[in-house]
Formats: sequence, structure tokens, C-alpha cells
Amino acid sequence: MNTKGISICITSAKGGVGKTITTLNLAGLYEVLQKKVLIIDFDLAGGGIAAALNLAFNKSIYNLVLDYTNNQYKNFKDYVVKYDNYIDVLASPKDPRESGKIDPKYIELILDKAVNNYDIVLIDTNHVLDEFNISTMDLVDKLLLLVTNDPLDIKNMRNLIAILKDVNYQNYKVILNESVLPFKKYFSLYDIKNIIRTNIDYVISKNFYLKNIDTIVMNGKIITLDSKAPNVFSKDYTTLMQLITDLYNEEVK
Ligand SMILES: Nc1ncnc2c1ncn2[C@@H]1O[C@H](COP(=O)(O)OP(=O)(O)OP(=O)(O)O)[C@@H](O)[C@H]1O
Ligand SMILES: [Mg+2]
Repeated sequence: MNTKGISICITSAKGGVGKTITTLNLAGLYEVLQKKVLIIDFDLAGGGIAAALNLAFNKSIYNLVLDYTNNQYKNFKDYVVKYDNYIDVLASPKDPRESGKIDPKYIELILDKAVNNYDIVLIDTNHVLDEFNISTMDLVDKLLLLVTNDPLDIKNMRNLIAILKDVNYQNYKVILNESVLPFKKYFSLYDIKNIIRTNIDYVISKNFYLKNIDTIVMNGKIITLDSKAPNVFSKDYTTLMQLITDLYNEEVK
């Protein structure tokens, strides 16, 4: 039995494909399964996890690294902010100018502390293949690649998958997220698989398009924690639940 938690990075080949919302939704579902979850906001310059959840915070990833380098670091929990009894957040820097000062060499330390304190560590990122994100992708247990049915996104995903295959990554799952651009139907599922040259493991359907997404975000809510969610989003709720249990069961053997 693995006593350490599982680290899962949510990434993509293009911006605005639903990474942040999906990260929050997966956190909510792990809470339903009574797992202790940490969300790390590694979208350092543009991150919005704390803002989306209406969380006020004093310390961010920047303070953690700064304190560590100055021998001021004591407890990992001093740097996280609580959302509810199951979900904590390690926020991205308040001031985006601090984001460039976080050396990727500390990613391993942060992830190590995180998996020692939580069952599940969800890492939100941006889609840029820079040193920071590549190091993160190298160090996590699982990668979730989100792709929409947008042709430009699909073209970019084809390149990203080719790179992942080139470096022999096998720990990724691909999610087609139809809920962000529900009106786009240029390519079929079959087409998309052929273009990106890999399997699509899960589909979040256009039925999961949330008309009230802005209200949800303004109220700091996680939709998968809504008691009506299992009925309202029956098929997509089941898909997402299947995804998170698959990820968990694959790691905890
Ligand atoms: N299920 C959904 N229904 C309706 N709108 C959605 C849904 N999921 C995401 N969105 C909207 O799509 C936009 C992009 O979502 P999100 O911010 O999660 O993407 P992202 O991949 O994290 O973007 P970035 O690359 O900028 O970090 C947001 O405006 C969000 O409100
Ligand atoms: Mg985002």
C-alpha cells in the first residue's frame, strides 16, 4: 500500500481549454470520495485557483521557496489556504512579478512535501512548454492532457503528444473537453484520435457546458460538490468519477 499521495498535473497544448475549472471539479470529486486534496497553482503568473475559490491568502508558492532558501521554512501547512475540510490550496504568487523568481529546482521539494501531506495533489498549470512546466511534467505521477474540439488546439495537441512519445512518457491520459466550446463540431471523435495519434481516454461532453459558470466562479463554488450534480450531469459526472477512481487505483496498488 502506497502511503504517499498521488500527484496529478492537468495540462494542455493551448490556453483556455478548461484546465482550471477541471482541476477544481476533480478536487470536488476527490472530496466526495473523502480524500484529502491539495491544489497547487503552478500557473505561476496567471493562476486563478485562489481567486476562483474566493480564498484570501498571505503566503504563496513564492513565500514557501523564499523561506526555504532563507532557512525560515518550518511546516508545509503554513503555506496552504483551506477551502473546506478536504481541499487546501497552495496559491500562485499574488504579484505576478514574483513568478519569474521561482527556480524550477524547487518543484521536486514542493511536490515531495505535498504528497507527504495529502492523498491527492492536483497541479494546475499553463500550457507553455517552458522549463518550469517540463520539470513538473517529469516529476508528477500522472498527466492529464485536456484538448477541446478546436482545430488549432487539436493541431497543437498533435505536437505535444509527439513530444511526449519521443521522451517515452506513458503516464498520460487524454480528455476531450467538449464543454468549453460546445458549438464546435468540425471534427468527430474518430478524426481527433487520428489527428493526435493517440487514444482519447475520457470525454467531457457538451452537456457539461455550464451556463452559470460565471456565477459559480463569483461565488467560489465547485460544481461537483453541489448535491444536485450527480443527477444534473449524470453521464459526465460518472465519467469524471470514473477518471478519478482510475487514476487513484492505478497508483495505489
Ligand atoms: N464546463 C464549462 N462550462 C462553461 N464554461 C466553461 C466550462 N469550463 C470552462 N469554462 C470557461 O472556459 C474558460 C476557460 O476555462 P479555464 O480558465 O478553466 O481554462 P484554462 O485552460 O485553465 O485557461 P488558461 O490556459 O488561461 O489557464 C473560462 O472562461 C471558463 O469559465
Ligand atoms: Mg487556467
